[in-house]
Amino acid sequence: MSNAVIVGTQWGDEGKAKVIDYLTERSDLVIRFQGGANAGHTVIANRRKFIFHLVPSGIMYPDKVCIVGNGVVFDAEQFLKEVDELDAVGISVAERLFVSDVAHLVLPYHKSLDTARESSMGKEKIGTTGRGIGPAYADKVSRTGIRVGDLADADLLTEKIRRGFERHRALTASIYKADFSLSLDEIIDQYAVIRQRMLPYIDDTAFRIFEAYGKGNRLLFEGAQGTFLDIDHGTYPFVTSANTIAGCACSGSGIGPAAIDHVIGIVKTYTTRVGNGPFPTELDNATGEMLRTQGGEFGATTGRSRRCGWFDSVMVRKAVQVNGLTHLALTKLDVLNNFDEICICTHYEIRGKRVDQFPSNPELINEALPVYESLPGWKSDIAQCRSYDELPAQARIYIERLRELCYNIPLLIVSVGPDRTQTIEVTPLT
Ligand code: IMP
Repeated sequence: MSNAVIVGTQWGDEGKAKVIDYLTERSDLVIRFQGGANAGHTVIANRRKFIFHLVPSGIMYPDKVCIVGNGVVFDAEQFLKEVDELDAVGISVAERLFVSDVAHLVLPYHKSLDTARESSMGKEKIGTTGRGIGPAYADKVSRTGIRVGDLADADLLTEKIRRGFERHRALTASIYKADFSLSLDEIIDQYAVIRQRMLPYIDDTAFRIFEAYGKGNRLLFEGAQGTFLDIDHGTYPFVTSANTIAGCACSGSGIGPAAIDHVIGIVKTYTTRVGNGPFPTELDNATGEMLRTQGGEFGATTGRSRRCGWFDSVMVRKAVQVNGLTHLALTKLDVLNNFDEICICTHYEIRGKRVDQFPSNPELINEALPVYESLPGWKSDIAQCRSYDELPAQARIYIERLRELCYNIPLLIVSVGPDRTQTIEVTPLT
């Protein structure tokens, strides 16, 4: 396999971790390039469940090098917690886990501000994960952030934390009228310990990736969230604070676009969303509830129930377009096992007109009425299917129709269960 980027095509939680895990076997370096501890990647291996928020899930393979790239906003406390959890089960990360020195830190005051801002917004609130993502990216683009490399200099770090703390305290109190219960001394003490522990991981990761690429190592770029949470192309303002699309793999890691051979879009066979914002195919009824329970649709980061609805091809067509997808990977097909009827949204009707492209205007998205095509379900357990031909005919018809509505791009895999082995390879990467 050559170099591939994996991205979500919906609102995140498409089951990317499973596909990342599958492709990691064929890669040398696994690289996170955006987002932060708002992501929650669940991997099931050897009947054990692991949830990663920051450490690339490729770490489960002992011979892989994992990188947290510059595009990530980095919560060092969370990262070290994950390192400790891995250590407790005997997985060593020494000399194979690196964090970009120019990634920006998420400090406790970013989380406080995130929560205070959300609380002040009432019905307008975004429904963030509360992990400080927006305020940390805001500091980065305002050029007032603290970078991972700053952890190397104790005095400079303390001074920068002090300035950041004062700024956020003033903002929280004056604009959001919220209590700022954090203690500067405690944060400084906490970071005196964190900085020592972080030193072995800090690296010029862009150079490390460049060198590995030059040697012919295979790179896997692990996206977080999904296309419709992208700050530019998503359902703004109900989005995260980063670009989530495939192009960001380059800016968020420091490699040029010519290095990317494949762009794989992860597509859940139905749609979910956590947090607020428009969702044209949302089912606020017993069918939505059935998708939620059969699919275990509860957030890995916040534990919130996910909103559920039918597959929306209008969205995934846009994801094909803005990511330049070369392959689709279909996940959670088994969740549809028990449905008599399965619907696919082929297009929207907005103000009496047929609409095939996902609108950028939030008012139009809010008014979009999904138009469905109904297909019969297969009503059987597919968990044991290991080849495409073993799938029931109705399942294959569903997949083919879904592909047809999404520019017919090749299908990499179909996932029929959470375990590594429950994966049907359709068109392997070259
Ligand atoms: P933030 O990224 O915490 O600021 O949250 C902004 C929006 O993105 C909220 O609707 C979150 O629920 C959503 N979000 C952030 N990360 C994820 C993710 O990994 N999966 C799904 N939704 C996410």
